[in-house]
Formats: sequence, structure tokens, C-alpha cells
Amino acid sequence: MSNTVTLTDNRNGKSYEFPILDGTKGPSVIDISSLYKDTGMFTFDRGYTSTAMCRSAITYIDGEKGELMHRGYDIAWLAKNKMYLDLVYLLFYKHLPSQDEFVSFKKDLKERSYLNEKMLKLFDCFPDKAHPMAVLQACVATMSAYYKRDMNFDDMHDYMELAKRLVAKIPTFIAFHYRHTRGFPTIYPDLDRGFTENFLYMLRAFPHNKVELRPIEAKAFDTVLMLHADHEQNASTTTVRTVGSTHAHPYSCISAGIGALWGHAHGGANEGVIRQLEMIGSVDRVDEFIKRAKDHNDPFRLMGFGHRVYKNFDPRAKVLKGLRDQLINEIGIDSNLIKVATRIEEIALNDEYFISRNLYPNVDFHSGLILKALGIPNEMFAAIFVMGRVPGWLSQWMELKAQDTIKIVRPRQLYVGPTCPPEA
Ligand code: SDX
Repeated sequence: MSNTVTLTDNRNGKSYEFPILDGTKGPSVIDISSLYKDTGMFTFDRGYTSTAMCRSAITYIDGEKGELMHRGYDIAWLAKNKMYLDLVYLLFYKHLPSQDEFVSFKKDLKERSYLNEKMLKLFDCFPDKAHPMAVLQACVATMSAYYKRDMNFDDMHDYMELAKRLVAKIPTFIAFHYRHTRGFPTIYPDLDRGFTENFLYMLRAFPHNKVELRPIEAKAFDTVLMLHADHEQNASTTTVRTVGSTHAHPYSCISAGIGALWGHAHGGANEGVIRQLEMIGSVDRVDEFIKRAKDHNDPFRLMGFGHRVYKNFDPRAKVLKGLRDQLINEIGIDSNLIKVATRIEEIALNDEYFISRNLYPNVDFHSGLILKALGIPNEMFAAIFVMGRVPGWLSQWMELKAQDTIKIVRPRQLYVGPTCPPEA
């Protein structure tokens, strides 16, 4: 039995064979690279729901089983036993760090957490009400002007230098912008604090008040970053790979990924969840909005519900739900938001419309409430998603760059336009 599929064109009875490629886990793929040459036709796959765009050894998702693993480690095990920087190291170096490797990696990041002081002028260019994602996307793109030598680097050492620099500086960009818009004194990175604690410190501290964080706050934030670290070929990762396939500057690739993640159907959903819970406002209005979410004539969708891949539970949502409840019990939050969120979950998880469409709470449904409990403003949630996801984007980009040959991403189309000039 040959490992192929046969396609028959019933218009003329012609048949074509295409090889089946097997991975180490999950669905096999049909290699249709020669389809156009053999048949003169393209495939059509809106949203690429049935299309694999690359080989990857980084993250595996099983949407039916609700499985997510990074380089063979299950996400629930990682969230329970490791810290965010362990996972960043695993994504970059393909193995979990020893104690010494962890200490050295953490030191590398600390040493890169300051910004070129000239870049601080960027924050003066934006109105105070500018969305943090607009500022962050511009800051990362601007890094390509400050770190030009990366334009032509050609070895993994330079990739790692670039990757560590970006992971280290993104929290500083976000924190500095937050303080700048409020007229607060800039709080520089405290190199004696951990990666996660340092970000919350830069947000909250004042020269007279160095603030002490509760362990549950640092753990909650560290876990949110970990659960956002990488997620296979989602829209923003596909964007990073697409821009990377043109050999654009790596910081341009990541800046493009930030733009893609900003959309409310993707990384902007966590902000959308909180805004929706605040808009619904009370438990007795939930039914009205569930009805709207089910109405095809109403563009309203339940933020934080549904997923392109997970047609069962999102394993990240499971981890976050437990953490959300623990954090809120310890530090509290606007209980009305929790009541509204709980009511939405109760109804949606038992309503035929959501069940038949496999619409379950995704990572964003709970992450927004955790960030809210940590006192992070709604408009910064997507930027926090970027902070978590940037190591994933970089590991996927490095995997692309390590290929023997890089084919530029250039899909085709089904043309449905005019075939001749319109009547004069
Ligand atoms: C992330 O890809 C990733 O991995 C992304 C991510 C990552 O880590 O990178 O996991 C992060 O982006 C999570 C998703 C965050 N987005 C939201 O929470 C926004 C709300 N969700 C929807 O916009 C939607 O569910 C998507 C975009 C997440 C998935 O969309 P699909 O797979 O294209 O599904 P679809 O639009 O084809 O919907 C299928 C059906 C439709 O109804 P029918 O036409 O079949 O009758 O389900 C309905 C949709 O109308 N539907 C919803 C809904 N999501 C889908 N109805 C109400 N509320 C919703 N949220």
C-alpha cells in the first residue's frame, strides 16, 4: 500500500497521486506542492483551516483532546513545575535549563532589559491615550533602526542575541509607556528581582515606595505569560513566518506579529472579554447578550469563547481558571465581574448553540480577569499577551531561518473579477 492519495478530476477522468507525509504526532499531511503543475488548479481553503504551512518541532496541539505541549512537555506540567523563563529557554534551546543555565539565562536577560536612552523619546511622540499596542508595535519596529547589525547576521548565536534582547526589552517598553502616559517617574528595571516580578515592580513602584509583591501575584502573572508563550501556527505566528520568509529584518517580523495579535478575534480578545463583562454589567443582563451572541444577524460575539483548533476545552483555560479563583480569593476583584463571567460560563456550557459549535472558554476568558485582579489596565492586556508570546514567535522564526531553503510565502487565489473592461 503506497503512502499516497489519488485525486480524480471527474470532468475528464484524469487521476493524480500525491504523497502523504507523516509527522511524529497528530494528523498526516498531503503534500500538494505539485498540484498546480500537475493539474493546473489551486486548492481553496479559507482561513487555512485544513492547511499545514510548515514542518515544526516546537508546539503540538490536539484540538479534539484539548492537548498542548511544547517540545514534548505538557503545558499543565510546565505550569505546575516550571517558571516562564524555563519555558522561554526550552523554546529557544530545545531543552529545559539546568540550574546554572537558568541563572545564566536570567542574567543575560537582565543585562538587556534597559533601553537605549534615545528610544525614550518615542514615548513623547504618542498621545497619552494611544493604545499600548500601537506604541509597542512602533517601539519594536524602531529596534531595527537601533540594532542594524542584525540585518545581515547569519548564525544562531546572533539569533539568540536578538531573541534575548527582544524578550528582555519588551517588558521595559510596556512599563515605561504606562508610566509616561500617567506622568509617573520612570522606574528602571530592578536587576535584583525576577523577570516577572520586575515587570510588576516597574508598573507599581515609586522612588519613595519600592512595593513588595505577594507571591500569588508573581506566580499568577508568571503563569499567564507561560500559557501565552507559543501556540503552533496561529494568525500572529503565521504572520511572523510570512514576513520572515521575505528575509525582512527580524524586528520587522515581530512588529508585524504584534499587529496581527492586536485583532479582537485573536490577542485583543482578553481586553474584549473584560470590556464585554463591564458592558453586560450585571448577571440579570447575561441572557440578553447570550441571545445576541447566538443571533446570526447580530455581529455580537462572546469574547473569550470559541477557538479555531480547540473543539473541546482549551487546556490553558483550565489552568488559568484555577489560578483565577485562587488569586481572586487572596486579593479580591470586582466581584460583579466574576458573577457575570460565572453566569456566562454556566449558560454557554449548557446551551445547544455553543455545545453544537464546540464553543468553550479559551485562554482569554480567564486571563483578562487575572490581569484585572493584578491591577493592570484593560488596554494593556494585549501587550501582556505580546510579552508572553514573543519567545514563541522568535523560536518559530528561528526554526524558519534554520531551514536549508526558505520559500517566500506567496499563496494564489480564485479569481472572480471582470474578464474584460466594463462597458464604456
Ligand atoms: C486566540 O489560533 C490560536 O491559537 C489563537 C490563540 C493563540 O494562543 O494564539 O489561541 C489566541 O486568539 C484565542 C481566541 C480569542 N478570540 C476570541 O475569544 C474572540 C471570540 N471567538 C471567535 O471570534 C471565534 O471563535 C474564533 C475567531 C476564535 C474562531 O473562529 P473560527 O474557528 O473561524 O470559527 P467560526 O468563526 O467559523 O465560527 C463557527 C461557528 C459560527 O456559527 P455558524 O456560522 O456555524 O452558525 O461558531 C460561531 C460562529 O458564528 N462562533 C461564535 C463565537 N465563535 C464562533 N458565536 C458566538 N460567540 C463566539 N465567540
